[in-house]
Amino acid sequence: MNIHIRKTTSSNIGAVDFSNLTFGENFSDHQFQINYRNGQWESPEIIPYDLTPMYPAMTTLHYGQAVFEGMKAFTYSSGKINIFRLDSHFERFNRSCKRVCIPEIPKNVFEQGLIHLVNLERAWVPQEKYKSLYLRPFVYATDETLGLRASTSYRFHILCSPVGNFYSEGIKPIRLTTMPEYVRAVSGGVGDVKVPGNYAASLQPTTKAQQMGYTQVLWLDAIEKKYVEEVGSMNIFFLIDDTLITPPINGSILPGITRMSVLELARKHKMNVEERPVAIDELIKAHENGKLKEIFGSGTAAVISPVGHIHHQGKEITLPQKEMGPVARWFYDRITGIQHGDHPDDENWCTIL
Ligand SMILES: Cc1ncc(COP(=O)(O)O)c(C=O)c1O
Repeated sequence: MNIHIRKTTSSNIGAVDFSNLTFGENFSDHQFQINYRNGQWESPEIIPYDLTPMYPAMTTLHYGQAVFEGMKAFTYSSGKINIFRLDSHFERFNRSCKRVCIPEIPKNVFEQGLIHLVNLERAWVPQEKYKSLYLRPFVYATDETLGLRASTSYRFHILCSPVGNFYSEGIKPIRLTTMPEYVRAVSGGVGDVKVPGNYAASLQPTTKAQQMGYTQVLWLDAIEKKYVEEVGSMNIFFLIDDTLITPPINGSILPGITRMSVLELARKHKMNVEERPVAIDELIKAHENGKLKEIFGSGTAAVISPVGHIHHQGKEITLPQKEMGPVARWFYDRITGIQHGDHPDDENWCTIL
């Protein structure tokens, strides 16, 4: 694939404090871009990161026909760079596109766009362990219309944003609350794909939860308000006795790539694993009986995030750990080890540049 590259004349890298990176606030010098018009993807290019022209009537702004991914590139101690689980993010991206009538991105556009862009931005991939270059592929409808229909034109971009260690201030178990008066998603809707509206809809309940002193909402199923689904931008795992349990992919949960990594590692290491509905009452009971050993979230941002507290309609689950429990820690160390090349990539998750 021939990618036209127009380089910036003045790098912004000197203005970025790599020792103090706030998530999503810094962008590398270049972006990948390709337009879709007249039924086909046009010529790809890498251009300086800059303003993008758009009409106020651009349909995405009105009806939200857009999709995004969140993935990361890491530095190995050898200096090589690894894009983590590229294929799985590609597959999820196109599954999301299909659901909102966006034409699928060809594999070579997604893959070569990422590889060429990250190669050009090697200096932007933080060197320190646990830091990374966050990659944001996204696509949006560009027709100038207020008519409610699938757009005929689209633009796909990839942005790069250096991000810090999620745990730079120490690992603090997060506090969750259910919010049965709100729902995140229902099977048949769009909760199982990465479309922007899901996140807009979560802002009000999340803000309320935070005002009440919780970190995030623990979403329950939309029908019975009985079964645990997921958290903000993480899937969720429970260790009950010695069994690792996570809610199944049921049409309303986002199938997390980190969730998949945890499950693959757990099965490979012969842990007891169950993907099945988990009622909030079951968790409360397991906690009362001393069987609930650990709770943790999984997602690209934090990899593994210990949960120390769950509130549900006046009832409380509080786990004693002040950090990650041993099982959560094992997954965290193994996945970050593979990401940074300190552990062999037996699973073939890494694209090495
Ligand atoms: C709603 C939601 N659930 C779960 C996840 C975790 O997915 P992943 O592990 O692919 O980052 C994310 C993050 O993308 C998310 O936005």
